[in-house]
Amino acid sequence: MKSDKTVVLVGFMGCGKSSVARVLAARMNCEAVDLDTLLVAREGASIAEFFAVRGEAEFRRLETEVLRDVLNSIIPRIVATGGGIVTREENRALLKEASARGVLVVYLEAEAKTLAYRIRRQPGLRPLIDGARVLNLQETQSRVEELLKTRAPLYESVANQTVNVGVLAPDEIARQIISAIEGNFHD
Ligand code: S3P
Repeated sequence: MKSDKTVVLVGFMGCGKSSVARVLAARMNCEAVDLDTLLVAREGASIAEFFAVRGEAEFRRLETEVLRDVLNSIIPRIVATGGGIVTREENRALLKEASARGVLVVYLEAEAKTLAYRIRRQPGLRPLIDGARVLNLQETQSRVEELLKTRAPLYESVANQTVNVGVLAPDEIARQIISAIEGNFHD
C-alpha cells in the first residue's frame, strides 16, 4: 500500500509507538519518524541526560518545536511521539489541527500492568520513571497508574482511533490501523 496519509501514534511510554511506527511505515511505503529520536539527534544528548542537565520544562519546549516541524511537513509519514506529548495544551491543539487536515491520530492504549512490564525491560531510559533510581516492577506500575490517570483522557481527546494493544504484536496493530485508513477514514 502506498499511502498519502500521515499517521501520528500517541500513547503512554512502553505502549509500542516506535515499533508500530516502523512496521506501519514499511507496510505503507513511507518513512517512520520518532520525535524523541529527532530531539536526541538535534541536541546531541540522550533523553535521560537531557532531563538531568536541562530539565523537563526545556525538554517539553523542544518537543513542541519538533512536533510542529514534523506536522508542518507535507511528506506523508508515520510519526511516533513521546508519551508526554499530550501534557501540553499547545501540543494537543497542534494534533487536533493536524487531524482536521486529515492526519490520523491513533492512541495505542494499554493497561498499567502491561506498560510497567514493558518499561522494566528498558531500565534507566525514562527519566519520569527511573529519574531518581531504577524502580522495581510494583513501583513502576504505581507510577504508571498515577501518570495514566491524568494522561489517558488526554490521549483520548486527541485521537481519531484507539487500538487496545493488549498482547497484540506490532504487525497486528499496524493491520488494524491500515484497515481504519482503508475503511472509514477516507479524506
Ligand atoms: C516521556 C516519554 C518518553 C520521552 C520522555 C518523556 C513521557 O518517550 O519522551 O522520557 O513524559 O511520557 P516514550 O513514550 O517513547 O518512552
